[in-house]
Amino acid sequence: MNKNKIDVKIETKKGSMDEWPEPIVRVQSLAESNLSSLPDRYIKPASLRPTTTEDAPTATNIPIIDLEGLFSEEGLSDDVIMARISEACRGWGFFQVVNHGVKPELMDAARENWREFFHMPVNAKETYSNSPRTYEGYGSRLGVEKGASLDWSDYYFLHLLPHHLKDFNKWPSFPPTIREVIDEYGEELVKLSGRIMRVLSTNLGLKEDKFQEAFGGENIGACLRVNYYPKCPRPELALGLSPHSDPGGMTILLPDDQVFGLQVRKDDTWITVKPHPHAFIVNIGDQIQILSNSTYKSVEHRVIVNSDKERVSLAFFYNPKSDIPIQPLQELVSTHNPPLYPPMTFDQYRLFIRTQGPQGKSHVESHISPR
Ligand code: OGA
Ligand code: NI
Repeated sequence: MNKNKIDVKIETKKGSMDEWPEPIVRVQSLAESNLSSLPDRYIKPASLRPTTTEDAPTATNIPIIDLEGLFSEEGLSDDVIMARISEACRGWGFFQVVNHGVKPELMDAARENWREFFHMPVNAKETYSNSPRTYEGYGSRLGVEKGASLDWSDYYFLHLLPHHLKDFNKWPSFPPTIREVIDEYGEELVKLSGRIMRVLSTNLGLKEDKFQEAFGGENIGACLRVNYYPKCPRPELALGLSPHSDPGGMTILLPDDQVFGLQVRKDDTWITVKPHPHAFIVNIGDQIQILSNSTYKSVEHRVIVNSDKERVSLAFFYNPKSDIPIQPLQELVSTHNPPLYPPMTFDQYRLFIRTQGPQGKSHVESHISPR
């Protein structure tokens, strides 16, 4: 897609970016109204429906990698850990990490503070209601297309970095501990992301801070989307989150410890991830796929829901500085291996998901340079 085309799209969408195209319906309200059937807007076409909503993982799981040796003398050697991460990034685009250095108590506190927030009555949360311009706050849809199919989830989106976008007034003030907990959680995840980014660079034969530099050094972005998936009366017809790849650099997901839901696409099947206790699920986003010229894969994933358990997950996104062009790293391209993607800033890139909603991997695929 050439740059001019994208600029035109931004212009034509501008009029609709200040508000949602229709009155927002909170999925929590629908779930609490004891509906006997699912409203049409949440019914997916047959080809997109989950094949099973059983609360059980598939036999295959994404790789689980123990990071202990990266941070201390104990555990596996750096070489072994790095080789495992390399394989996971090329093949799966997804892996779980354990012994990652973030305290289990902090992980639980973060999830449970958010669960309490989402358990408040809908009315109490409307003051945080978000708009499609920034997405910050309490939301119930991605994309601004009128009449679009909707997913069975509410969410909360906020910025942690850069510092000028971090605004406590846009964060919830209930429960009373939530701001402090998110703040500490965010700092820990920024540190963990920095460590993983160094491994990703080194594994491509680059100097260890190459990715971080390409992301804009100190001025990178970090944000949090907390997803709330209420119980769904007809889970076999709906999705909690439609298939998508994450538009940013890298995602670190804290899944619900009790309820399965995340599915990752492997070839043509959907693998239900079985979360390991106190593990994080790490995945490559589109920006790292682009920087690595597609050596690392940003893989499609989706979320299924169920009728007897709600689910809460925290998706932390580590992103490039939003106004610098991102393109395949020079060190990784040659005449035999030409750059697959033209330069684009993350601000431009993420407008796609913000206006179109989740659309599988179509965005990164349509972004491939014309040959
Ligand atoms: C996301 C996402 C998965 C989940 O927020 O981008 O893919 O398990 N979440 O909630
Ligand atoms: Ni995602």
